[in-house]
Amino acid sequence: MYFPTLRPRRLRRSATLRKMVQENRLTVDDLIYPMFVMYGNDQENEVSSMPGVFQYSIDKLLPAVGEVVELDIPAIILFGIPGEKDEVGTGAFVDDGIVQQAIRSIKEKYPDLLVITDVCLCEFTSHGHCGIINDGEVMNDPTLEYLARTAVSHAKAGADMVAPSDMMDGRVAAIREQLDENGYSHIPIMAYSAKYSSAFYGPFRDAADSTPQFGDRRSYQMDPPNGDEAIKETTLDIEEGADIVMVKPALAYMDIIRRVKEEFGYPLAAYNVSGEYSMIKAAAAKGWIDEKSVVMEMMIGFKRAGADLVLTYFAKDIAKWLRES
Ligand code: PBG
Repeated sequence: MYFPTLRPRRLRRSATLRKMVQENRLTVDDLIYPMFVMYGNDQENEVSSMPGVFQYSIDKLLPAVGEVVELDIPAIILFGIPGEKDEVGTGAFVDDGIVQQAIRSIKEKYPDLLVITDVCLCEFTSHGHCGIINDGEVMNDPTLEYLARTAVSHAKAGADMVAPSDMMDGRVAAIREQLDENGYSHIPIMAYSAKYSSAFYGPFRDAADSTPQFGDRRSYQMDPPNGDEAIKETTLDIEEGADIVMVKPALAYMDIIRRVKEEFGYPLAAYNVSGEYSMIKAAAAKGWIDEKSVVMEMMIGFKRAGADLVLTYFAKDIAKWLRES
């Protein structure tokens, strides 16, 4: 049976009909908003490559978080910029670290907001790598202990979920074990499972001050041509105890989102990374594209590909747009 009997256009005739047969939907509950916190007072520095994204001192972070809560965005993911850096990234796991302080302040004021923390060393190490260095090499196993300590310190400060983004082998198991041993068996892990070594992280490294001082991250983050490897990485993370798995970046890796969703049927987050944000902001500022339409089309694309959750710097705008419609 085909044309003229079958006419797909019949179901596209009105907005009402289109809404009724719409296959995928984006809601505010799908969104996780990344935020950057730094030491100091009265600090609110806009990241030059990410218009609308700020590094906040805690006093300024709180009202900004209030805005997120007001918009009904369910979760934030926190990144910290330390005062001082050293070889092992001590600032990542001390009890009075910037992230730990921020968690305590946020949870005191907004207990219902889900606070996720990025667990990594790169913002806190003097060399900017995500692990411990020996002879110019990122050492896998010695790094695990530091990551686990970081995750436990976040949980202790009140974090609701931890998200390891370092891509060391075995880190989910190491973190799970230490969380459990310290009384945090109820704290879920969102693992950056298929995290690629991507040029799309450029603006984030301005925001988090985490550019490697030598070399690059290719010996630990995934190689962009690989797809089967994403299945291997995700298998390991799930076996090690990941509760939510992530694909990152999102836009250039839609096929990976789809494959991971189909293969595992696990809760899946897609990270709409800094470079994806900056590209749209720049083109929109020039009047070359319509920001809202493009962002909403990209978001529904992530959902259609198989993402359940989206980490995005556009979260506040999206929440407003969803309210308007
Ligand atoms: C830390 C981390 C990075 C991002 C999230 N966590 C940077 C990196 O791996 O270099 C990137 C996020 C973004 O680009 O928006 N390891």
